[in-house]
Amino acid sequence: MSVSNAVHAAVLLGCVMICSTVLCPVGAYLYNNRYAGDQVLRITPRNEEEVQVLRRLFQNMSVDLWQPNSASLIHEGRAVDVHTGQNGTAGLKARLRQEHIQHSVLISNLQEEIEKQTGYRSSRKRRSEFQYDYEVYHSMEEIQSWMFEMNRTHPHMLDMFSIGRSYEGRPLYVLQLGKRTRTYKKAVWIDCGVHAREWIGPAFCQWFVKEALNSYRHDSSMRRLINQLTFYVMPVFNVDGYHYSWKVDRFWRKTRSKNAKYHCRGVDANRNWKVKWCEEGASSHPCDDTYCGPYPESEPEVKAVAKFLRKHKRRVKAYISIHAYAQMLLYPYSYKYATIPNFNCVETAAQNAVSALYSAYGVRYRYGPASTTLYVSSGSSIDWAYKTGIPYAFAFELRDTGYFGFLLPETLINPTCTETMRAVRAIASGLLKKCRD
Ligand SMILES: *[C@@H]1O[C@H](CO)[C@@H](O)[C@H](O)[C@H]1NC(C)=O
Ligand SMILES: *[C@@H]1O[C@H](CO)[C@@H](O)[C@H](O)[C@H]1NC(C)=O
Ligand SMILES: *[C@@H]1O[C@H](CO)[C@@H](O)[C@H](O)[C@H]1NC(C)=O
Ligand SMILES: [Zn+2]
Repeated sequence: MSVSNAVHAAVLLGCVMICSTVLCPVGAYLYNNRYAGDQVLRITPRNEEEVQVLRRLFQNMSVDLWQPNSASLIHEGRAVDVHTGQNGTAGLKARLRQEHIQHSVLISNLQEEIEKQTGYRSSRKRRSEFQYDYEVYHSMEEIQSWMFEMNRTHPHMLDMFSIGRSYEGRPLYVLQLGKRTRTYKKAVWIDCGVHAREWIGPAFCQWFVKEALNSYRHDSSMRRLINQLTFYVMPVFNVDGYHYSWKVDRFWRKTRSKNAKYHCRGVDANRNWKVKWCEEGASSHPCDDTYCGPYPESEPEVKAVAKFLRKHKRRVKAYISIHAYAQMLLYPYSYKYATIPNFNCVETAAQNAVSALYSAYGVRYRYGPASTTLYVSSGSSIDWAYKTGIPYAFAFELRDTGYFGFLLPETLINPTCTETMRAVRAIASGLLKKCRD
C-alpha cells in the first residue's frame, strides 16, 4: 500500500480545490496541503543484505516508491527514490539508521516544491486567449480544448478523432498529423501520459504537434517527415489518472478503474498489455503501483490503443511512448533478458536518437533493452507493440535523474522538449531509410 493509496481513500474528491489557472487565495494550499512535511529520500543499497532490508521495509511501510516503482525491483547499486509521508519519514530514517543504511534527501519539503511550480505559474503575465503557453503544465480540460483548437485551425495538416472512452467516460483523443493522401504511408505512433504523475509527457506531445506544424513551412526536413509519414499523437493516454493527478493526488500513477474486492483503485497501464501479462516485474495486488489488472487489456484505455494499433499494424513502423523520469531510451525486451531479432537496426536508431538529443544541451541518456537498462517488467506496451509487428518500439524516460523527479519545473519544459524533439525526429527520419539486420 502506498502513501497515495492510503491517503486518497480519506480524501473526498469534491472537497479539494486546486488553484491552477487563477491565483490561489491567501492561506489555500494545493491538494489540501496533503504533502506538508513529506520528503523524497534517495537510498542506494550497497550490498545484497541492504537490498533485502529495503525490500522488506518497503513491502511493509506505507511509502510511495518513485524509482523503481516496486520494492521487488530494488537492486544493489541502483538508487531508490522514495516519497514518505508525514510521520513516516522520521520512522523510515530511524529504521535506516538502525540498519546502517545511508540516505540522502532529494526533496526536503514536497508541499513547498509543488507550491513553487504553481507560484511560477500564477505570477506569469496572462497571454491572450488564443496564444497557448507550451511552457506550463496544462490540466486535462485545457489540453482537450487545445486539441479542438488545433483541429479547428489546421484542417489541412491535422485531424482529431477519438479511439474510445476511458473508464470514467472521457474520450480518448488522437491527433493525426500529415497530409491526407490515398497512397500508402508509413506511420509513427506517439503516446504520452500513460502514467498520470509524469506531467512532462503530455507537455512533450503538445510540443511535438506545435513544432511539427510551426516548422512545416521553413524546415525542409520536418516537411519531408510530415509529407512522407503519418504521425498519430495521443497527448494523454491515461486521461482519468491525469485528471486525478491535477485534482486530488499529484503522485497518482495508475488508471482509475475500480476493483471488485479492494478499495484500491487503478491499474498500471504499462503492465496491462497482452504480452507475458502479470509475470516478473508486475504485481497482482490491486493496491500496488505496478498492478497488472484483473486480465490483459482490462483497462479501456489500453484496449482502445491496442485495437487501433492492431488495425493499423501494417503501416505503423514505430511505436514511441513518453515516460519520466530517468533519462533513458528503452527498447524491447522488457520482460526478458534477450536480444530482439532486429537488434542492429533498433540499436542504431537508439544511438542516433540519443546523440541527436545530446547535441541540443549535452544531456546524456542511457539506452538499451528495457530489461537490462532499467528493470524487467512484463505486460509493457513496447513489448506488446514489438510482438504485434511494429519493428521500432521505444519508451523514453525523460528528464531528470531524480533531482526534481516527477516535479520537473516548468522552466525545464522547453529544454526537455527541444532535445526530445531531436531524438524523435531522428527515429522518424530513420524510417525513411532502409535498414537490414
Ligand atoms: C512487516 O509487518 C509484519 C506484520 O504486519 C511484521 O510482523 C513484520 O515485523 C514487519 N516487517 C518489517 C521489516 O517491518
Ligand atoms: C502518524 O500520526 C498520526 C497522528 O499524529 C497517528 O495517529 C498515527 O498513529 C501515526 N502513524 C504512525 C505510523 O506512527
Ligand atoms: C476535426 O476537424 C474535422 C474537420 O476538419 C471534423 O470533421 C472533425 O469532426 C473534428 N474532430 C473532432 C474530434 O471534433
Ligand atoms: Zn511511466
